[in-house]
Amino acid sequence: MTRSIRPLVAGNWKMNGLKADLAIAAEVAKGYDIGLKSAVDIAICPPASLVYPASAALIGARIATGGQDCSTQASGAFTGEVSAAMLADAGAAFVIVGHSERRTLHGETNATVKAKAQAAQQALLVPIVCVGETKGEREAGKAIAVVKKQLRGSVPDGATAATLVVAYEPVWAIGTGLTPTAADVAEMHEAIRAELGRMLGKAAAAGVRLLYGGSVKPSNAAELMTVAHVDGALVGGASLKAEDFLAIARACA
Ligand code: PGA
Repeated sequence: MTRSIRPLVAGNWKMNGLKADLAIAAEVAKGYDIGLKSAVDIAICPPASLVYPASAALIGARIATGGQDCSTQASGAFTGEVSAAMLADAGAAFVIVGHSERRTLHGETNATVKAKAQAAQQALLVPIVCVGETKGEREAGKAIAVVKKQLRGSVPDGATAATLVVAYEPVWAIGTGLTPTAADVAEMHEAIRAELGRMLGKAAAAGVRLLYGGSVKPSNAAELMTVAHVDGALVGGASLKAEDFLAIARACA
């Protein structure tokens, strides 16, 4: 953790969730008590179809919502796309961009991710820019170089602590139950902070929230959160169980 930074725990529901599952968000809101509220920010990123009802339901709970992706474009003839302004209009405060599932399954390049992050910032959403190496890249000793290159290509120029969140998600740790060692997370998060410092200036980089993501669970959250420069978590599977998600938030608090 970085003492001066208020941690953020963001839940990525991925393509899961119907109206009935807003009950999960309601349960998270119920458990977001004074103790947690004073110590950690929570965001829930449901599928686009639920951003509006989730935002409406969570407004009094001080829990933010976010999208999972946005268009590079502001509006127009882009069938099927959702713009950042639409997410903001639906009540979102954040949007995940460059998740490895988007990079892999939809061929999103660093340039695409950067354009999406810029579109998000223009709509006054905070992009959660995801980076992370594959198993092969880690085994080849290239993890840090790969992530630095992703940062250089994906993070908008002039971003500040208020307009950017970065999530380090090793591709091989997502949904697999595998996590890097605390030492590997420490090395990577330190490298990310340093690289952001070179890109954005040290002062801006010092306040950017750096989330760890990839198989975060109640059982490993506390250890991951003790690592320097880990300022919260991006949680997939475990965010679909209110109890687990709250336990992770408590570990971050
Ligand atoms: P996971 O997913 O927690 O299920 O590994 C994390 C993510 O994809 O953001």
